[in-house]
Amino acid sequence: MAKHDKSPVGISTILNPVPVVMVSSAGKDPDTKPNIMTVAWAGTVNSEPPMVSVSIRKNRYSHKLISETGEFVINLVSKSLCKPCDYCGVRSGADEDKFAKCGLTPVKAEGLEYAYAIKEAPVSISCKVKSVTELGSHDMFIGEIVAVTADSYLTDDKGRLCLDNAKLVAYNHGEYFLLGEKLGFFGYSVASPEVMKKRMGGK
Ligand SMILES: Cc1cc2nc3c(=O)[nH]c(=O)nc-3n(C[C@H](O)[C@H](O)[C@H](O)COP(=O)(O)O)c2cc1C
Repeated sequence: MAKHDKSPVGISTILNPVPVVMVSSAGKDPDTKPNIMTVAWAGTVNSEPPMVSVSIRKNRYSHKLISETGEFVINLVSKSLCKPCDYCGVRSGADEDKFAKCGLTPVKAEGLEYAYAIKEAPVSISCKVKSVTELGSHDMFIGEIVAVTADSYLTDDKGRLCLDNAKLVAYNHGEYFLLGEKLGFFGYSVASPEVMKKRMGGK
């Protein structure tokens, strides 16, 4: 067997890249200002029903709001939202109105009673909390997706979602990156030349 040439670099949360998303929420009291926090510990955890997870520390203001209503919205981050996304990850809604500070617009989230989505986000995913698991530093909220809304420029004439055009941002080891070069698609390693030409322009 070949000898590997890797050395230990310490045990940490090194799985990369990960999504970085803006999670919006609100309280039950209509006077509570809707809030946004940045989350990198987010993931898809089930297909049917569609479910996602977000892991949130107990001391976040968003933790309180999401626990109160059982609702949150995952807003995808496009290039133009990258700076507001970072800002929402370093300031707390307990101290200020981050929607107002970032010049963002709260809109009632599709399929939810209390939570707000971010109008300027390309895609907003409305979620209802199904369970909360205390993991240690973070509590993992599992949410069932009850609605998804996307900007109209992201759908083609057949109503299909084209996320390629959303200029989405990923997070890699503490830094934000714009998604760039398309290398392939699901199953491209076994696709016919005709399909490759259609999907990849012959690359
Ligand atoms: C890139 C980035 C990723 C973050 N990911 C998480 C996360 O996954 N979970 C978490 O609890 N906090 C995370 N944070 C920190 C919170 O977003 C931050 O504490 C924020 O101020 C909480 O806002 P809130 O108090 O208004 O809820 C992240 C911050 C940044 C900048």
